[in-house]
Amino acid sequence: MSLHEDAPGLGKNPAAMSGADFLSQITEQGTSPSFTQDALNALNRAYYTHRYAFRDVSYNFFTGRNFQTVLSNEIERLNLGTDLRIKELSNGPAIRWEHLRYPLLYGNTHVILTDFDISLLPTDEQLVRKRLDPQHFSREVYSLTDVMPTLPTEERVDLMLITYGFDSIWLPQDIRYVKNGDTWYQTLYRLNIPENLAFEEQEQIRAVLRGEVDSNSIPLRLLAAVEIEESLEEVDMTTRSFGQQILNRYGHLETAAINVPGGLIQRVIEAFDNQIAEGGAFIIGDTAVDDQRGYSANTNSPAKSYLKLPEGAIYRQDDYGLAKAILEDLGYDVEIQNAVQGPFKYIFSEMVQQTTKDELMMTIRRKKSQI
Ligand SMILES: C[S@@+](CC[C@H](N)C(=O)[O-])C[C@H]1O[C@@H](n2cnc3c(N)ncnc32)[C@H](O)[C@@H]1O
Repeated sequence: MSLHEDAPGLGKNPAAMSGADFLSQITEQGTSPSFTQDALNALNRAYYTHRYAFRDVSYNFFTGRNFQTVLSNEIERLNLGTDLRIKELSNGPAIRWEHLRYPLLYGNTHVILTDFDISLLPTDEQLVRKRLDPQHFSREVYSLTDVMPTLPTEERVDLMLITYGFDSIWLPQDIRYVKNGDTWYQTLYRLNIPENLAFEEQEQIRAVLRGEVDSNSIPLRLLAAVEIEESLEEVDMTTRSFGQQILNRYGHLETAAINVPGGLIQRVIEAFDNQIAEGGAFIIGDTAVDDQRGYSANTNSPAKSYLKLPEGAIYRQDDYGLAKAILEDLGYDVEIQNAVQGPFKYIFSEMVQQTTKDELMMTIRRKKSQI
């Protein structure tokens, strides 16, 4: 199944979209030629391949020990078995798994670590330092910008996992909508290199954003200096992907600002069609919003999340309540749990709760009737 693209003139064929395509949108001036839906990808891509990215992050909610307990519980609850094949998307240098409950990780369990650039993934030595046996791990290049390839039955996975991944990349279907009165707008972005930087520095940033030179050729502070401009383009919501579901949820409100995770929905559908074994599950953990908490309809612009050093990068808070409704319509069972309420609340300390109130976990399976 595929969903039609929303972004005007962009990504008509997601299979053809690659990081290089994103970067080619940077013009001679180092600024996007016009406002686009996915301009932020160039900046994030430069950030993630920079050697100082992530280095100072002292705490990561989803790779921490508590979440591994939650994951163990979830795998058992879902009846995924013990000799698991697990694929982790957008892994980066993070290493989790060391606290996954025995015997989930040992036996014949195998974890395939993936990211868009293989050099980002942990080495065998790093796994050993975490007391993990490298024989249980392998590495694969997979960019979220690519359609998920179809795997033969024996290579399919029981669990696909991604944390802090979908919120870091703008696929063509990832759209921020703003409503004012009866009018809906789509937010478009443009990167701007400040003119008060030395001309040579401006040129260096341009070259990095265009992908002509490695981002390690400039200090992180120069990437952090890049500004994000936003523009609103009026749209007819009745003709947009998921327009009806969006109108059902938010049409009655005078104002709204929502991030629709169409890219996540697209890749989830492909994962179940092409890579997840029968009875398998997809777990997604992110900073996200769910309208049961009452504020999905007024979510901050991703531009505001930009490069809060040292964490860096730009992320957005996607509307998981909406994603759940859409995926359910498409034949999936979806559960959303968060760190502050529900079953998590007894596991996490108060300190963790305070710092992670927006961390949600979405568990997706095919509805039994669809198998
Ligand atoms: C915020 S980090 C999260 C890392 C790790 N999953 C965690 O939970 O700590 C975002 C990850 O998305 C990855 N990423 C960026 N662009 C990507 C792409 N096009 N395809 C796949 N992953 C990408 C980055 O390399 C990075 O590892």
